[in-house]
Amino acid sequence: MRTLLVTGGAGFIGANFVHYWMKQYINDKVIVLDALTYAGNLTNLEAVKDHPNFTFVHGNILNTELVEELLRHHTVDTLVHFAAESHVDRSISGPDAFLETNILGTHSLLKAAKKVWLDEDLLNEKEGSGKEHRFHHVSTDEVYGTLLLDDPAFSETTAYAPNSPYAASKAASDHLVRAYHETYGLKTTISNCSNNYGSFHFPEKLIPLVIINILHNKALPIYGDGKQIRDWLYVEDHARGIELVLNKGRIGENYNIGGNNEWQNIDIVNLVCKLMNEAFAENVETLKRENVETNHDATESAETLKRENVETNRDSILTLKRLNAVTAQAVTAEAETLKQRFPTALNAIAGHSEALIEHVKDRLGHDRRYAIDATKTRNELGYEPQESFETGIRKTVQWYLNNEAWWQAIIDGSYQDWIAEQYQ
Ligand code: NAD
Ligand code: TYD
Repeated sequence: MRTLLVTGGAGFIGANFVHYWMKQYINDKVIVLDALTYAGNLTNLEAVKDHPNFTFVHGNILNTELVEELLRHHTVDTLVHFAAESHVDRSISGPDAFLETNILGTHSLLKAAKKVWLDEDLLNEKEGSGKEHRFHHVSTDEVYGTLLLDDPAFSETTAYAPNSPYAASKAASDHLVRAYHETYGLKTTISNCSNNYGSFHFPEKLIPLVIINILHNKALPIYGDGKQIRDWLYVEDHARGIELVLNKGRIGENYNIGGNNEWQNIDIVNLVCKLMNEAFAENVETLKRENVETNHDATESAETLKRENVETNRDSILTLKRLNAVTAQAVTAEAETLKQRFPTALNAIAGHSEALIEHVKDRLGHDRRYAIDATKTRNELGYEPQESFETGIRKTVQWYLNNEAWWQAIIDGSYQDWIAEQYQ
């Protein structure tokens, strides 16, 4: 049984990790430390908040004493560090918060971990010599910089060359984690992951931004030519990757986690448009067309078979027709409900969400391509993403359609100020 301190557990990936972990390891204790910045949301942890093995602490990772106290009080053996300022565009307009949280915040955690786990030797004292500590730092592929189209993907030996203030702050934090291992013997691991997508993704990021803008018939802003490439990974696969690193990773090592799933931004946006069009309208039409064809085929074969067995045939064709009608009705009803819930989604309703695409000013220093070579993680730890992009992106679109209250609460708040500053 482990006791985890998860920093940033009320954010996108942290919350998904907590849900994943608490399902897999039902006896483990999980303490979330989160400052609830604009990106933190207690609703993300609603499903576990009353669980006896779960504790939420509202606090800042910069508060070293608080972290020390949590490590001692809960006899934490595993710290999984997600807390960060995470949006590249915000790091361009205001880098200071990134340096504070990502660099100084990580250092604050390292100092606390060193003091409690090494200097005070708390785990040995309280639990006997069998209990090991682990400091796992969650980082990004952006520390490696950018790739040309035909460059090999980033491996763990690729030199760090961060281009944005966000990436530079994450790179600095990775170096500090490494230094605490090399210098003091803190038992650390680092994972560098590609772009995540899935539930609870904050609406300022590309995929949720596009889904929600389509629902409001707002422009879909593509930075520059939209041919920048990202490697997209379903967020639960990231949680699985971290689990493998925690369970089998070698101390002091970095592990790359990726999705083998490179997409140009413009193609991702077109795909989301297509899925939204289907949800609202086209799906019904396709299904109706398919039903007509199936019914037609069934009628034809029925005619042939009638001669042999009139009764069986009549039954099967009636059943098939009934089934088709029921499915078509269900999908039609769902699309109708969506139209009523989101009457502003005019282009999606008309089946043309992509008409909302608008090329806007490019991001400063915009990295052209990220790609992850996860060979080491696969060979050493058996890592393989489990969710296909085809199913993951559909689940994600559906999640946003089903969870309007979640994103509405966000976009009703101070988020508006960011949108006004960034896009107008
Ligand atoms: P997020 O912005 O959605 O969440 C960050 C969380 O950290 C929020 O809950 C916020 O309240 C909390 N936080 C921020 N500053 C804090 C502080 N000083 N003290 C305590 N809590 C604080 O971020 P995310 O997308 O979930 O990313 C989580 C981690 O994964 C980050 O370290 C990020 O660099 C890394 N990462 C993200 C991606 C991605 O695609 N989003 C990919 C690779 C790595
Ligand atoms: P984002 O989701 O911000 O993640 P990251 O910058 O960490 O990769 O952006 C993903 C890609 O989409 C990135 O190349 C920038 C681009 N992008 C747009 O074209 N328009 C937008 O409005 C946003 C937010 C991002």
